[in-house]
Amino acid sequence: SGSRLLPDKPLSARSTITSDDGTFALGFFSPSSSGTKHYYVGIWYKNIPQDNIVWVANRAMPIADPSSAILAFTNKFNLALSDTNGQLLWMTNISATGNSSSEATGGEAMLDNNGNFILQSSEGIILWQSFDYPTDTLLPGMNLRITHRTHALQRLISWRNPQDPSPGNFSYGADPDEFLQRFIWNGSTPYRRSPVWNNFLVVGQYIESIRSTIYFTLQTIDDEVYISFGLPAPSVSSLLLVKMDYSGKMKIRTWKSNVSKWTDLQSEPNQECNKFGYCGPFGYCDNTQPIVTCKCFDGFEPNNKQEWTAHRFSQGCHRMEALRCGQGDGFLNTSNMKVPDQFVFVKNRSLDECIAECTSNCSCTAYAYANMSTKFMNGDETRCLLWIGDLIDTEKLIGQGENLYIRINGLNGKVYCLCFLCLC
Ligand SMILES: *[C@@H]1O[C@H](CO)[C@@H](O)[C@H](O)[C@H]1NC(C)=O
Ligand SMILES: *[C@@H]1O[C@H](CO)[C@@H](O)[C@H](O)[C@H]1NC(C)=O
Repeated sequence: SGSRLLPDKPLSARSTITSDDGTFALGFFSPSSSGTKHYYVGIWYKNIPQDNIVWVANRAMPIADPSSAILAFTNKFNLALSDTNGQLLWMTNISATGNSSSEATGGEAMLDNNGNFILQSSEGIILWQSFDYPTDTLLPGMNLRITHRTHALQRLISWRNPQDPSPGNFSYGADPDEFLQRFIWNGSTPYRRSPVWNNFLVVGQYIESIRSTIYFTLQTIDDEVYISFGLPAPSVSSLLLVKMDYSGKMKIRTWKSNVSKWTDLQSEPNQECNKFGYCGPFGYCDNTQPIVTCKCFDGFEPNNKQEWTAHRFSQGCHRMEALRCGQGDGFLNTSNMKVPDQFVFVKNRSLDECIAECTSNCSCTAYAYANMSTKFMNGDETRCLLWIGDLIDTEKLIGQGENLYIRINGLNGKVYCLCFLCLC
């Protein structure tokens, strides 16, 4: 086998390519164990017996008969997959123009130890790599593009079912309007929303079972922002991946070799209440309760008490006291929040300016402020978010999240102050 595919050595269904350290393999596979078998070219963990596929080339164009199918160089720069009848099912589609490599003497493709299949010219210029074309899985070291200034956004797209890698209903990627948050979509409908970034560069998450922190990092490459994840130091004991599962859950998984099983370190959404907009406008999902459920913000009550009591929360909540803008409205501070969707991101504001921006605008219903640790865009470290109108998809988190300041009637504000004094 070896780790390389050369112009004079096409890959057939009878062989595979293996990364130098033996972790990954590339070749033909069939995910169905019974019934009609369809074949695909993909990359998998060589030493893991189940759920081991991390990348698929021809996900929507299966091979029925793999006997004479081949993955081969078509010219100096392109790889193509054709079936037994010679029909083209997939190719890399690199145009030989650009650079000066059109004079090159031909390339080779190799599977590296990270699971990246790299096609490069004889001068070592990367012409194409599988890491630039994610399917449903993000491996450590792989980048997912979350801005779309000059390139298209990238998304992980689920399989249809465990036997069918063709594109399924669920996808994961950045909000096209605002890269500060990411979504899982069911078709084109939001299904789960991430917390909004309140600290660029790194969001660490300590995972007890592997005694390490998983880092999600943002970085800018050629004018676009990318998200990636990994462990602080490469660790042989941790095979780790992020997967957009066919069931609609985003999973962070690790392979436990001592029990030969995948363990989900995180699987979201993990409760009904965590699904997008589940608690309706001005409702929030309270994750701190033994039974995770919807609540109305203080000073709000359910729009439909019967529905709410019957655990149907989608109609949300309304204010008990109307706002009296300009006559001393106050702000209710709620802590540890996943802040709502559909914010207005006002650039270059200090905290005081951000508060003033909301206070002076009668349609502003809430604000949240963060100082980023890194200057990310045009030297701006500030993140002033305002909400106009309804607050939707808010959650109270455990040990995470940020302060959200919700506009309330000034009288309400005074009542809170009095209660506070009484407690003193
Ligand atoms: C995804 O959307 C489809 C079509 O609207 C729906 O039938 C299905 O129940 C949804 N899946 C989940 C997990 O909500
Ligand atoms: C209130 O703020 C929003 C969002 O920044 C803006 O579109 C709107 O024009 C503002 N309204 C007033 C009266 O300033």
